[in-house]
Amino acid sequence: MSVTRPGAGTVADIMSSPVVTASPDETVAGAAARMVEAQVGSVVVVDGERPVGILTERDLIRLAAGTTPASEARLSEWATQDPDTIPPATEPAAALETMERRGYRHLPVVEDGRLLGLVSLRDLVRVARIQPVDRPAAEVPRGLEGVAVAETAIGDVRGREGFFHYREYSAPDLAAKRSFEDVWHLLFEGRLPDDAAARAFAEEIRPLREIPADVRAILPEIARSGERFVPLDALRASYSILSLGFRPWLDTDALELRAQAMRTCAVLPTLTAALYRLRQGEEPVEPHPELGHAANYLYMVDGQVPPAAHARALEQYLVLTIDHGFNASTFTARVITSTGADLGSAIAGAIGALSGPLHGGAPSRALDMIEEIGSRDRADAWLRDAVESGKRLMGFGHRVYRTDDPRSTMLREVAERLDGERVEFAKEIEVKAVDVLRELKPGRELYPNVEFYAGIVMDLIGMPRELFTPTFACSRVVGWCAHVMEQAADNRLIRPSAWYVGPEPPRPVPG
Ligand code: CMC
Repeated sequence: MSVTRPGAGTVADIMSSPVVTASPDETVAGAAARMVEAQVGSVVVVDGERPVGILTERDLIRLAAGTTPASEARLSEWATQDPDTIPPATEPAAALETMERRGYRHLPVVEDGRLLGLVSLRDLVRVARIQPVDRPAAEVPRGLEGVAVAETAIGDVRGREGFFHYREYSAPDLAAKRSFEDVWHLLFEGRLPDDAAARAFAEEIRPLREIPADVRAILPEIARSGERFVPLDALRASYSILSLGFRPWLDTDALELRAQAMRTCAVLPTLTAALYRLRQGEEPVEPHPELGHAANYLYMVDGQVPPAAHARALEQYLVLTIDHGFNASTFTARVITSTGADLGSAIAGAIGALSGPLHGGAPSRALDMIEEIGSRDRADAWLRDAVESGKRLMGFGHRVYRTDDPRSTMLREVAERLDGERVEFAKEIEVKAVDVLRELKPGRELYPNVEFYAGIVMDLIGMPRELFTPTFACSRVVGWCAHVMEQAADNRLIRPSAWYVGPEPPRPVPG
């Protein structure tokens, strides 16, 4: 039986006891069956009362990767031997720290060589969550790296594998086989549409692409404002006006929130294209009723129906960037939503978060970098000089990926399909940059991210450079809206704490 008492002072209060155990000469198959039956993630191998090993899911995976059948594998060989243990008086925060440092999920609790219980990461996180606010739960890594802050059924990123998915499907597979609207449907409705549902979805989207007359009237002002035209800022301003009537979701229902989300995703490309054209002194182009989402966007930017290859390349980029775990802009949207605020505020905030060069603002900079390098013979010295002088190579590195970003791999292929020759130079820069980063930033595992080839693909299809980041927003908005709806459906205010590090208060106020 599992004994879990949250709010406890030591691991003795929260550990599971008795523990599921096995003896060293038992088979892995027998122990694994006991794990399934008891619904636990590990079995402690004991010699009498003394723990001598631990069999975890990780060991089972190791076994599954080899050729030895589980019915023949003995625990004495396959379980992790001489596991680290903790005494029962250990504080939960100290146990959590050991687990984080060593990468464990379970720790046997031992006193005088005797197994007393087992504490799991889950037990500790449960306790950490309910600590009083004047004593922050646990020291979290800077930038919240590796910290899971919510549950989501929308998708996930597996950084070591170089894999990401939307719901139960591989995202690159979706990009290879399905339209943008199909994946949008998947995120909003939880499933891919059949033909009839896809037609109905397209019908629903079509009128929502139009910009309402009152917003349309203000767009020339917005497009003219500011010394420098920053299309993403202009998009944020115009979208804020479009969403003026959106009420806080706490005062509405799920249907109204979904309707606002559909409106938002459908109209963002129209706003982006209209603002860009107005700034160029051209009239906006009305949405084309016959074209799909990606082709219509290119059409509204350029005024010409795009070649099918260009529309498809853009569509694949858009599908690949719809969602990506708890990235900064998605997190922003969820934090704003958690206050009960309206969808317009969440999306405007997310656009702001996306604008930064460390997030969505990099693709044009990556392209600038390639052009600045200019020729093969300059590449090595240029890249070396940049990294040595403390600059970041745009389009490289990622918070989660520790291998090739699968979006970059697919976009490289898309770019090659469009113009193999032009991509050759970028590929050489990619290889050189990875080498330079490996040498000058050893151990950081820095590889190209989505932005490196995104800029190239967009350039090859004739997308103006100023529109690279707004185009990213036009796809990611679907992910933001799906997350807003998910947060609203099961909400709790997101309100963390911080460590105060200033001068000790209270001090007398001068004066
Ligand atoms: N060029 C040179 N050094 C780098 C780079 C880079 N592109 N990325 C990380 N590093 C170094 C960094 O200087 C640091 O070195 P040190 O340990 O010596 O201080 C180390 O690697 C770890 O960097 P970090 O900033 O702690 O890593 P992070 O996980 O916080 O940052 C990142 C992730 C994407 C912000 C970063 O890799 C970066 O700035 N990349 C360049 C900008 C870029 O391409 N942005 C697009 C991100 S992908 C699009 C998206 O999903 O939003």
